[in-house]
Amino acid sequence: MSLQRRVEALLEKGDGPFTGSDHALFGEFRSALGRGEVRAAEPEGGRWRVNLWVKRAILLGFRMGRLAPAGTLGGAERFFDKDTFPLKPLALEDGVRLVPGGSAIRDGAYVARGVVCMPPMYVNVGAYVDEGTMIDSHALVGSCAQIGRRVHLSAAAQIGGVLEPVGAMPVIVEDDVLVGGGCGVYEGALVRRGAVLAAGTILTGSTPVLDLVTGATYRRSGDTPLEIPAGAVVVPGSRAATGEHARALGVALYTPVIVKYRDEKTSAATALEEALR
Ligand SMILES: CC(C)(COP(=O)(O)OP(=O)(O)OC[C@H]1O[C@@H](n2cnc3c(N)ncnc32)[C@H](O)[C@@H]1OP(=O)(O)O)[C@@H](O)C(=O)NCCC(=O)NCCS
Repeated sequence: MSLQRRVEALLEKGDGPFTGSDHALFGEFRSALGRGEVRAAEPEGGRWRVNLWVKRAILLGFRMGRLAPAGTLGGAERFFDKDTFPLKPLALEDGVRLVPGGSAIRDGAYVARGVVCMPPMYVNVGAYVDEGTMIDSHALVGSCAQIGRRVHLSAAAQIGGVLEPVGAMPVIVEDDVLVGGGCGVYEGALVRRGAVLAAGTILTGSTPVLDLVTGATYRRSGDTPLEIPAGAVVVPGSRAATGEHARALGVALYTPVIVKYRDEKTSAATALEEALR
């Protein structure tokens, strides 16, 4: 039986009790996630298919887990976590540069060769981070987030997860995107290939994005996430708030704005430093 089928049967158990072989199956599932063979969402002919069973299985892992020592610092037990979510057993041969200092990658996250992780940073379970991506200091890759190749997650960029608050669609950031310093991408936003989020841009499921080039307004609708088009350059902006009081008080609301589509100037401003890789 496929791993998915067996995990789905385990999901039927709800709150348990769970046997040793249930724990072994969860370990098998977590290893498949960690190898990138199972993903919370995956590209399928230009679209993204969400594998809801993966998120449900991760949540089950939290219910199954017991608190246990989760790592040492200076020889002393200093960390405690659910035993179903140990640290990823990284080795030199994996080719990931993990600089010391307050960083962690939970097992069940896929981190490809050539990824650079600057401390402190955190990659949560179910995340998928593809080759050549830079995760800079104070950056978060939330649970199940899908990050493409050569993405730059700049300092303090926050990529939200799906576990809490409850959300079905993971955040997806495609290849060659620059997520500027201090950005936040939450609630299943989909950032298409090569887009640039200027420093401080925040995207959520409720944020409309105004395209000054085409005149379009992008927003989430139903099950379709907020989607930033390929190559869009998004900067923090504002729009007049609606309503009598807003008008009287001159209130404006934060609104991300697409000011242009990537050109040579943008590419020069966002070029990655090969020497750092
Ligand atoms: C988006 C960015 C790459 C600039 O791209 P660019 O293609 O060079 O943009 P341009 O200079 O051609 O600007 C286009 C328009 O957007 C405006 N703009 C550019 N960046 C802006 C920003 N961050 N906020 C608000 N407006 C901005 C410009 O003023 C210009 O408008 P104008 O023609 O009315 O003056 C840059 O602003 C940025 O955010 N870089 C990332 C910085 C960062 O986080 N680095 C991480 C290091 S850890």
